[in-house]
Amino acid sequence: MKFSVGIASVLGFIAGAKAGTVIWNGSFNNYPTVSTFDNWSWSNEVGAYQWYIHGTQPTSHYLALDPTFKNPADTAETNGLRMTIDSTATWNSQMERVELIPQTTQNLGQGELFYHFSIMQNGVNSPDPTLEHQIFFFESHFTQLKFGVGPNPSDLQWMVGSDTLWSAPFSAGTWFNFAYDIDFSAGTVGLWASTGSAPLTKVVQNVAASTSTNSEDFHVGILRIVNGPGQEDYYVSGVYIEQGPITTAIGSGAAPPPPTGPSGTTSVGPTSVSSASHTSSSTVSSSSAAPGPQQSQYGQCGGTGYTGPTTCVAPYTCKAISAPYYYQCL
Ligand SMILES: *[C@@H]1O[C@H](CO)[C@@H](O)[C@H](O)[C@H]1NC(C)=O
Ligand SMILES: *[C@@H]1O[C@H](CO)[C@@H](O)[C@H](O)[C@H]1NC(C)=O
Repeated sequence: MKFSVGIASVLGFIAGAKAGTVIWNGSFNNYPTVSTFDNWSWSNEVGAYQWYIHGTQPTSHYLALDPTFKNPADTAETNGLRMTIDSTATWNSQMERVELIPQTTQNLGQGELFYHFSIMQNGVNSPDPTLEHQIFFFESHFTQLKFGVGPNPSDLQWMVGSDTLWSAPFSAGTWFNFAYDIDFSAGTVGLWASTGSAPLTKVVQNVAASTSTNSEDFHVGILRIVNGPGQEDYYVSGVYIEQGPITTAIGSGAAPPPPTGPSGTTSVGPTSVSSASHTSSSTVSSSSAAPGPQQSQYGQCGGTGYTGPTTCVAPYTCKAISAPYYYQCL
């Protein structure tokens, strides 16, 4: 008699086993029309979002809801949100802003939390790479995405402080899914990412950061510096904050299994990471004797606090991107 264990069932178990507790749900399902965002005010703090960081035009000038505005893989959401920046979007300064803030009594700044969201630009009213953009950030900016900054202005770059630890071309029509992995107790932050319907994978291990939030300063949206005349549209869905273990599936739909090989399709790509202070990469020597897990293309393979695989699947090699913090298989 012969027994065999299907690897698919093992992977299926791993994928299905993960699920945390949602402590703040930023679903747009409770916003049948964008005018519902106007129900919130400082004297009437209703709904899931505070809505005050925007320009002078009516809400419908800056926000729009539609089923085609979400990541299609997110079957839990009815609509996605289109967020628009233009010359009218200045708020309290010469910076142009369209930002929602969680409205909740939950403490969003203790223990280890996963801040989930998906974002896309579709090639119409695309973001201007000559202007700096801060995307999904905290008041202290300890972590955020940026677009329009060096050394790769057309990349969506994930920053911790002033270091870029992950980046990828902000390609039109590609949904980028993220979860900031923030350990407020340890004072560290890491990044999970994927594109399209692929489940999230951890692309940057946690590094030290000045983590802090007053639970009312997670900026769901975009800030543009300074005063561009052009209109830009961004599409957003799947916003929620979870206490671990992390949910890696996008939406409530069945996620594809995790990557099964060197060229698994779940990597975010094409990806390139750079930091201003390191323009050349050096190869990390690897001892190839010990068999063990190897990192896939674009995955992390070294750096401060990193404990995962340090060798890469062929033909990739482990390169210093931002020594000593971050090494990546490229
Ligand atoms: C928003 O306010 C309008 C009227 O002011 C009300 O009819 C509607 O039910 C409110 N919606 C929500 C979701 O609170
Ligand atoms: C958020 O709430 C909506 C209903 O308002 C629900 O459909 C969705 O599954 C929830 N999302 C999460 C991540 O719990």
